[in-house]
Amino acid sequence: MMNKKLRALIGPSILNSDLSKLYEESQKLLDNGADYLHLDVMDGHFVPNLTFGHPVVKCLRSKIKEAFFETHMMVSQPEQWIVPMAEAGVNQYTFHIEPITNVEEICRKIKENGMQVGLAIKPGTPVSEVEKYISIADMVLIMTVEPGFGGQKFMENQMLKVQHLRKHYPLLNIEVDGGVGPSTIECCANAGANMIVSGTAVIGAQDQANTINLLRTTVQQIIDKQ
Ligand code: DX5
Ligand code: ZN
Repeated sequence: MMNKKLRALIGPSILNSDLSKLYEESQKLLDNGADYLHLDVMDGHFVPNLTFGHPVVKCLRSKIKEAFFETHMMVSQPEQWIVPMAEAGVNQYTFHIEPITNVEEICRKIKENGMQVGLAIKPGTPVSEVEKYISIADMVLIMTVEPGFGGQKFMENQMLKVQHLRKHYPLLNIEVDGGVGPSTIECCANAGANMIVSGTAVIGAQDQANTINLLRTTVQQIIDKQ
């Protein structure tokens, strides 16, 4: 789905926050200007780590009624969790295309359940693999680390994929995720990303509001120059 105009949107990842205080940490990010929450769901199969699922998301939604929730589904069977996540109150269901063969069918099911579609690819996956589904997606996520953990080093070589997509799809929502923060945001913005996931850099920031604002302003300035 193409935007009429691109907007810089900042979606902090809560993965490296104090998950014993998930609600408080999430509300704090929103109070500090986050545009949406990026919820990292890991199944211990697709990635060598395990986080949380729809029961946790449902509890979070029961306290945070309005915010936009994006779940980043790092799971081997994304189809299995569509209905539970929709019922939990997720707005955008972003899944990896690597473990499945029926991308179109899954996209259709996500939309039938009232959620937006995000398509994610790992660093080792060519952008051509996701390009063929652009017309049925609301967003493409270009991973800038190997999925599974926060706090990893940003992979600048992934910007070639972002540049390629931005060149051919000027109004597509393009998200970057992994090692993104004040020291890497220029690179992401210049390549053409407009949806920014940042975990450690925001969660650990002295001044979260200032960091979120810096990320957004940097991206919006590039968008406005286009
Ligand atoms: C990694 C997750 C990312 C990660 C981002 O698998 O998908 O969302 O939590 O955290 P940082 O910004 O610390 O790399
Ligand atoms: Zn993520």
